[in-house]
This record gives sequence, C-alpha cells and structure tokens, in this order.
Amino acid sequence: MTKQHVVQRLLSGRGGRLRDSGSAFAPANIALVKYWGKRDEALNLPVTSSLSVSLGTLGTHTSVRLNQRPSDAYWLNSRRVPAGSDTALRLRTYLDLFRPPGCSFEVRTRNTIPTAAGLASSASAFAALALALDRLFGWRLDPTQLSVLARLGSGSACRSLFEGFAEWRAGRRADGMDSHAVPLKERWPELRLGLLMVSARKKSISSRAAMKRTVETSPLYSAWPAAVRRDLRALRKAIGARDFPTFGKIAESNALSMHATMHAARPPVNYWLPASVEAMEQVWALRAEGGEVYFTMDAGPNLKLLFEDREAAAIRAAFPKLRVVAPFASAPERSRR
Ligand code: PMV
Repeated sequence: MTKQHVVQRLLSGRGGRLRDSGSAFAPANIALVKYWGKRDEALNLPVTSSLSVSLGTLGTHTSVRLNQRPSDAYWLNSRRVPAGSDTALRLRTYLDLFRPPGCSFEVRTRNTIPTAAGLASSASAFAALALALDRLFGWRLDPTQLSVLARLGSGSACRSLFEGFAEWRAGRRADGMDSHAVPLKERWPELRLGLLMVSARKKSISSRAAMKRTVETSPLYSAWPAAVRRDLRALRKAIGARDFPTFGKIAESNALSMHATMHAARPPVNYWLPASVEAMEQVWALRAEGGEVYFTMDAGPNLKLLFEDREAAAIRAAFPKLRVVAPFASAPERSRR
C-alpha cells in the first residue's frame, strides 16, 4: 500500500470546485502519551495509540495556490524555502500526491510558534496544509479524513486537526483508514504548558530516523507498547477526574520511558543536553518542596512543563524565560508571556 493508493481511496468521487487559493490554521500539539515507533513506515502508521493537547493559537497558518510555473515555490515566515532543502523536498513529495498534471503549487506558511521555542512544527504544518488543500480543491473531507491525510505528511500531524485533547487511535487496517485522531470532550481550563527552551540547535537526528533505529535495535522497545496502553488508560482516567498529580506523573514518566528506549538503542539516540538534565533536576526539586509541576519532552533537548494556573507565579519565578500557554483558555488569553 502506498500513500498514492490512500489518497486515491480518500478522494475518489470527490469532484470539488477548484478555488483560487485555500487557507487554514492548525495548532501545534504536544503528546502526553507519546507516539514512538511505526508499524508501517510508508504510511506513518503507529505501533500504539497516543494522546496530545493542542496549543491553541500557537501553530501554523498556510495558504496554497495552483499555477502553471515550472516548479513549486514555498515561503516560510516570509522567507523563500531553498529549493534543495529537506523542507522543500518533504513538501514537494507530499504535494505530488495531489498535483494536477502540469501544475505547480505556491505555499505560504507562517508559524505563530516562536521559532526560539524549539517546538517541532511539522505537526501543525502538515495539518494546516491538508486543510488548506481541502479548501483549495473543494473536497469537503470530514475531520477524520483530514486527519488521515495530515498523517501521511507527518504522523503527529493527525492530532493537530483538533483543539484541546486529541487521541490518535492506532487502528489495525493495512490502508490506515482507521488510524486517525479523535478529539476528547474533556476540557481543562486551568491546565498550563510552559515551553522551556534550553537550546535552539538543530536536532542531531530526525525523529523519523530515531524511531526506526529504536524499534529495530533497542532491547527496551518490546516493553513500550504495553507501557503505552497502561499509560493511556490511566491518563484518560486522570483527565476525566481532573486529577493533576496523576496526569503529570503519567506524562512525565511516559516521556522518560520513551527516551529510555532511545538511550538503549544501538548506537544510542540521545536528545538530552546538560541543560535539559539541569532543568529536569530543577522540576524535581520544585516537586520535593511541594510544587505541582511535571515535564514532558519530545525528540529534542527542550522541556515542556505541565502545571495548573494556581502554580503559575511560582513556576514563572523559577523559570523566568518560560513561555506559558493556556490550551483551554478563551482566545484572547490563550497564549501570553
Ligand atoms: O510525527 P513525527 O514524525 O514528528 O514524530 C513525533 C514524535 C514525538 O514528537 C517524539 C512524539 C509525539 O507523539 O509527538
């Protein structure tokens, strides 16, 4: 099964009316129970389900047009993306799935995630692109189908179709039509995420390559799927009960377990810098003094702190450079420094 087959299945019989352009926004998302490992490399089908929270107004705005120029043109934050770069290649490969004969695409993208926050933006980028293409071509896909389409660009992008909590159900089908995110009805207005930047350096190894190496060589990986199933059950329960300490403990432990599988890979995969470990120690020290703060980490050295509004002043005092996001707050107060 190839991505082209999946796209044909999704779009068959969808005539649609072509517009001049299609525009959309999608939020970034942070996984609380992580996606780590694929059962199908080509289609980005995961070994396990995962659960994330979206970052409100922090994400990607994208607009896309078709024209007859000889090649595609991409802009990111008003800068032209160099033709031979990894980003351009990834975009072109994805857009080829939808390209009408003889046409080129013009894609303009603006990230509201501060570049310095060190957040991976491929999730919001591919979710916004899938939505923008739907509007350009007039397909009128539903959110589930759009989630499948976004997944073909980047696995975690399937969760960025939704606000708030989203669960990516791993699914079982070979074509992945049942592997998409669903929104959770629960909201948690007091929940805060603190984006803690420890380094802006480009990551040493892509999440795609790191995942593959971990699955293939880490002796700890065999324990991961069962751990995720347990964590997912417990996290859903903690969200339902608004039990913050349990919520934080599960998210932190799940992230550390994911990094442990990487550290045991051969050769090892390590995203931690000395400053990452220092920040972890600082979080644990705050907890030892009674503070309720936890962290999660992805394929990079930066931490995302988890806490509730009532702890915000103490956490900001401990981490003065923290960018605080309120994923469930009303639009104007969603994201503030
Ligand atoms: O979607 P990708 O290929 O960028 O992988 C994302 C992997 C993690 O961010 C580490 C975990 C996750 O669930 O988002």
